[in-house]
Amino acid sequence: MSKKLAVITSGGDAPGMNAAVRAIVRRGVGLGYDMIGIRRGFRGLLEDDFVTLTTRSVSRIINLGGTILHTGRCPEMKTETGLNRAVRMIKELNVDGIVVIGGDGSLAAGNALSKSGVKVINIPASIDNDIYGTDETIGYDTALNTAVDAIDNIRDTATSHDRIFVVEIMGREHGFLTLDVGLAAGCEFVVVPEMPLNVEEIASELQKGKEKGKTSEIVAFAEGAGSSEEFAAKIAQLTGLEVRVSILGYIQRGGRPTARTRILASQFGSLAVELLDAGQSNLLVCLEDGKIISRPISEAIAGHKQLNKMQCELINKLSV
Ligand code: F6P
Repeated sequence: MSKKLAVITSGGDAPGMNAAVRAIVRRGVGLGYDMIGIRRGFRGLLEDDFVTLTTRSVSRIINLGGTILHTGRCPEMKTETGLNRAVRMIKELNVDGIVVIGGDGSLAAGNALSKSGVKVINIPASIDNDIYGTDETIGYDTALNTAVDAIDNIRDTATSHDRIFVVEIMGREHGFLTLDVGLAAGCEFVVVPEMPLNVEEIASELQKGKEKGKTSEIVAFAEGAGSSEEFAAKIAQLTGLEVRVSILGYIQRGGRPTARTRILASQFGSLAVELLDAGQSNLLVCLEDGKIISRPISEAIAGHKQLNKMQCELINKLSV
């Protein structure tokens, strides 16, 4: 009797999704499964849009950003009608299980499908690294390196002009990416949604920095912390110094995945298939203290990842 597994990428794309798809397909084929890929996220599932995947269809994708399956956000999955249709479509596809690669929306969809009797394993993928239960998500390390490279470039022009820069980093709800970018790029300050903002204090410290001989000063500002433009205008007004804003935006979502992202994606993908093959379901594969493990999806949904506030202090201590 033939066995079949499906894989889907859903929500915002993240570099390394392709490396995960490759691992899932090749591990699945290795264990005797026929493999299919659902296209365009859960919308593709609802519209019966899928492709057969073989070991060769995933050749030369380990180094590609984006997702060969395409992705999207699908609000219908939050409705009973959408969920029922998704369950029906999965039954019609006659698959033994599905691997869902994505962020928090994908986790919620995975959880709902599991509760409706579908065998699901979720893989955390998001540049935001905001999923509780895993130390890292697929794509995070790549986005971090992209943003740090961009700030290194900004530092050159900031120094040449003796300017302050406010650099906006992606992260609609959380500042995990901004915090690590801040430390790795040697920023003077970070502004994140999780911590109170004191513009006057930052302005005064930036001014002191100038007096101490700093030729450039950079504030890493998380997208979810408010308007970077308004913040920059306020800093300019309070300090009388020249301030520029640079919004890094979607360049952080694309690009060649780093080696670290590819390794994590390959490990997550392989384990996801092995768990389905062992008859397991409703699990999220995770990185915990250097080990690849799995935990119930419900646990990851219920938890809230905490920002390392000590790191904020370290950034300030090192930017003297
Ligand atoms: O989830 C990743 C993320 O890049 C957030 O940081 C950002 O706010 C959001 O997605 C934007 O997503 P989109 O414009 O694709 O809906």
